[in-house]
Amino acid sequence: MLTPVKIAVMVSGGGTNLQALIDAEASGIIKSGKISLVLSNKADAFALTRASRAGIPTAVVEKKDCKDASDFESRLIEMLDSNGIEIIVLAGFMSILSERFTSHYRDRIINVHPSLIPSFCGKGFYGLRVHEAALAYGVKVSGATVHFVNEIPDGGRIIMQRAVEVREGDTPEILQRRIMEEAEWKILPLACELVAKEIREGKLER
Ligand code: GAR
Repeated sequence: MLTPVKIAVMVSGGGTNLQALIDAEASGIIKSGKISLVLSNKADAFALTRASRAGIPTAVVEKKDCKDASDFESRLIEMLDSNGIEIIVLAGFMSILSERFTSHYRDRIINVHPSLIPSFCGKGFYGLRVHEAALAYGVKVSGATVHFVNEIPDGGRIIMQRAVEVREGDTPEILQRRIMEEAEWKILPLACELVAKEIREGKLER
């Protein structure tokens, strides 16, 4: 039997997408990979509690403890490589990664973004800001995208997308919640399994 690929989930906040991944592994939706590390850039991220509850090893690397941005990324890379990580899932990780980092893990990093890329994405579009922008524009449909991560913020190849209706009277918070429930928590585990399976079967060079 092929061994499951080692997955690291990188987080900064509440970790509801991490929870969806943990639940998907428990229910067998994710079967080609195993969440082996949760890495946070915030020591107080609730995502770390979710990981501990599930028995997953955690690590924290905070920018403020590093010399500079390059040192921060070196420490992340050291943590990921020393744990033999093969896929990195950015699940609400709120820090932009440089080309040095993304090229070290080419076709190995996936990210969930809470809009239909190429709308409302790129530098400055994260968390609630994405939904504020979508509502301000007046779109009737938004959604979520899972994509590979390269040096362009939200610019890598799209793996999966799901559309979600915008309703009359939506606030950014209401829209955010609907997009999480109907899109993010569904497509992130599916995309993660898809990529893990391809890596395990040697379709994406290991
Ligand atoms: C999610 O909506 C995720 O798509 C978004 O942050 C939230 C994190 O929530 N990510 C971005 O905006 C990245 N550009 P979570 O910590 O509960 O998963």
